Amino acid sequence: MECIEIFGGQPLKGSVKVQGAKNTVLPIMAAAILNHGISVLHNCPKIVDVYYMIQILEHIGCVIKWEENTLIINAATLKSCYIPAQFANKMRSSIFLLGSLLGRFNEAKLPYPGGCVIGERPIGLHLEGLRKLNVVITEEESELTARVSKLTGGVVNFSFPSVGATENIVLAAVCAQGTTRIMGAAREPEIIELCRFLNEMGASITGAGSNEILIEGVEELHNVEFNIVADRIVAGTYILAALSTRGRINLVDAPISHISSLLDTISKMGVVYKETKEGLYIDATGRFATIPFVNTEPYPGFPTDLQSQLMAVLAGIPGESCICENLFEARFKVAKELNSMGARITYNDRIAKICGVPKLHGAMVYAEELRGGAALVVAAVGAEGLTLIENRNFIDRGYEDICRDLTYLGAKITSKGSR
Ligand code: UD1
Repeated sequence: MECIEIFGGQPLKGSVKVQGAKNTVLPIMAAAILNHGISVLHNCPKIVDVYYMIQILEHIGCVIKWEENTLIINAATLKSCYIPAQFANKMRSSIFLLGSLLGRFNEAKLPYPGGCVIGERPIGLHLEGLRKLNVVITEEESELTARVSKLTGGVVNFSFPSVGATENIVLAAVCAQGTTRIMGAAREPEIIELCRFLNEMGASITGAGSNEILIEGVEELHNVEFNIVADRIVAGTYILAALSTRGRINLVDAPISHISSLLDTISKMGVVYKETKEGLYIDATGRFATIPFVNTEPYPGFPTDLQSQLMAVLAGIPGESCICENLFEARFKVAKELNSMGARITYNDRIAKICGVPKLHGAMVYAEELRGGAALVVAAVGAEGLTLIENRNFIDRGYEDICRDLTYLGAKITSKGSR
């Protein structure tokens, strides 16, 4: 069984570099197939979801190689627009290939996407948007077929700023005939990075980062070399691990402008942080308090992907706090595991009430999904005694090597079982 063993209680100290961002690299890998040539991606994280995406891209005909953390994707030899279930079921991000395969072949066939079990993850907005670009979509059993004789620009007006749906429409619209306007677009840094990558490849996109994106279709794209930005959720996880242990750390390359909602939250709690030449310095050694209320929201609000890790910290600070989860209803499942470490958390559909205790204690716990698993690590490094976290494979989906990084910061953490 693959697991992580942690002897908690050591205040974290020292420096660690933040890896490249999972949610940035995955749609960019899908975007690479729009170009009949080569994309070179520097600072690419070696995480399980990237390996899954590589398997899918190789299956449809790409030639891919690693040079340290640089990923080189040659999409000149792409030959298939069909992704079989055994690949797509492993990872929700396979859905991005719907937009980019349509852009490349005018056709895509893939199963409904898999991914973390964090609640209902519908794709209605993706399909609704693609239909505005003239795409005809048929849904049979568990498979989607999308076809278009010629992708044509259109107006897409999202009722909710879905990150994945915005990315999919951008991908489909890049080489469409005419202009596409996306209103109600998601504003996450991942959207900005995807559009920056596509523009460097020859696309014509403006407005990324606002709620209205304009894409002028282009006829041709060209080879590109691109640097993947540091991962805001990994940075946030390590910041929260520093709080959990009352430590003091430097995060090299921390994407500070992407984590302002977290920095606002911890500064309201009384934690000190400072921008440095290399990145970000966090000092959680002084007294700090709990925060009464946190609401997860689309960017720039507090990210749902850091909600569980924040819950793990609040569980170990005396006082009451409340978290409202507005995006993924099943993310409170981790509360049961935290409670087995001595936390006092109750929750209903969307609201969790945390009655903080002075110290959590070690236990044997189970990761059920990526960010919930990371939250257990955050709790365990601050808890008294030994914690064993089963199902490390969920954590490996998004963290290159969480044990290596936290060991750099002085944690007593080891990985058991093969990676
Ligand atoms: C992306 C991120 C994920 C993050 C999430 C929200 C990637 C690979 N994943 O996921 O880590 O937690 O953004 O920041 O980038 N929705 C619909 N219909 C749709 C699509 C979404 O109702 O067609 C709803 C979802 O159920 C959810 C909300 O919109 O409640 C947000 O989903 P979305 O922004 O699409 O998240 P993902 O792109 O799946």
